[in-house]
Amino acid sequence: MPAAAAAIGRMLVLGGGYTGRRMAEALERAGVPVVLTRRQPLASQERPGWLRFDPHQGVLPSPQDLLGITHVLVTIPPDAGGRDPVLDALLARLLELPLDWLGYLSTTGVYGDTGGAWVDESSPTRPLLERSRARLACEEAWRRSGLPVQVLRLPGIYGPGRNPLENLRNGTARLIHKPGQVFSRIHVDDIVGGLLHCIALPAVRRPETLILADRFPCPSSELLGLAAHLLGCPLPPFERFDEVAPSMSGMARSFWSENRRACSRLLRRGLGYRLLYPSYWEGLSSGVGSFFGAPKIL
Ligand SMILES: NC(=O)c1ccc[n+]([C@@H]2O[C@H](COP(=O)([O-])OP(=O)(O)OC[C@H]3O[C@@H](n4cnc5c(N)ncnc54)[C@H](OP(=O)(O)O)[C@@H]3O)[C@@H](O)[C@H]2O)c1
Repeated sequence: MPAAAAAIGRMLVLGGGYTGRRMAEALERAGVPVVLTRRQPLASQERPGWLRFDPHQGVLPSPQDLLGITHVLVTIPPDAGGRDPVLDALLARLLELPLDWLGYLSTTGVYGDTGGAWVDESSPTRPLLERSRARLACEEAWRRSGLPVQVLRLPGIYGPGRNPLENLRNGTARLIHKPGQVFSRIHVDDIVGGLLHCIALPAVRRPETLILADRFPCPSSELLGLAAHLLGCPLPPFERFDEVAPSMSGMARSFWSENRRACSRLLRRGLGYRLLYPSYWEGLSSGVGSFFGAPKIL
């Protein structure tokens, strides 16, 4: 963090959701000035650091609000029409800023279904889902924006408050089995860590597109197994995907319709970033306060 903290004058996080907030908290701890946005009106006693940004209602940060911004993180997904709300509303204002870096959080969904094969930054993009096609179009629009854009492609995000331990605790966990199906994932603190690592690099060393993922894609039932072990609680009933798919929401079904492994070798070996949570073992164990650790092969 020290190198990134020194590089950032003031950061704007567009979208103070799960990842945006985690990023802002890390920056605040390091004493870096940061502002983040949300659509809801701000309460009068709101802590400083929040701006209102609701492009569909025409509510934009003013040029005054953005004074001194050198780095921007965009966590806002395409809107219901598939367009990028930030580009549509704020591009002209962003172009006036002396930006050193703009990170755009995208998704590995742009690679489509590879039948479980690995994808990396050089793999062809073949989005199948409507939302992934929109995402790819937004990535391309960001690249054409004239800003110093880095596109970060993410698989499933997990971390504090958003993980299978939480799902078991609140009764929403499901043990669904689909033969051969794996998911890739990334711990939210490795998104933050990976982004800060990129910011600290000289601009010429930052890849235009980078996958942030841990090293261990696997079936979701594996995570649930470890989570139940850590909590000492029973697993939910076993469900076969084919049998339950018709009753799933369209969104849930779409997650299960693609199977791929996201490779983060460029991040780790190419750029020298050391994952805090190389697999779900470390990630989930940290969530119960005791270190379980990855299995050791003797
Ligand atoms: N979650 C995953 O597993 C996953 C996987 C791959 C990629 N991604 C992508 O990575 C990014 C970060 O994910 P996340 O889970 O941290 O997101 P999140 O918690 O849903 O936060 C998204 C933020 O974007 C804001 N937002 C959404 N639509 C907006 C609009 N039309 N105008 C203005 N603000 C808008 C939300 O504002 P409000 O607070 O006002 O609602 C929220 O602050 C997203 O682009 C997501 O699609 C997520």
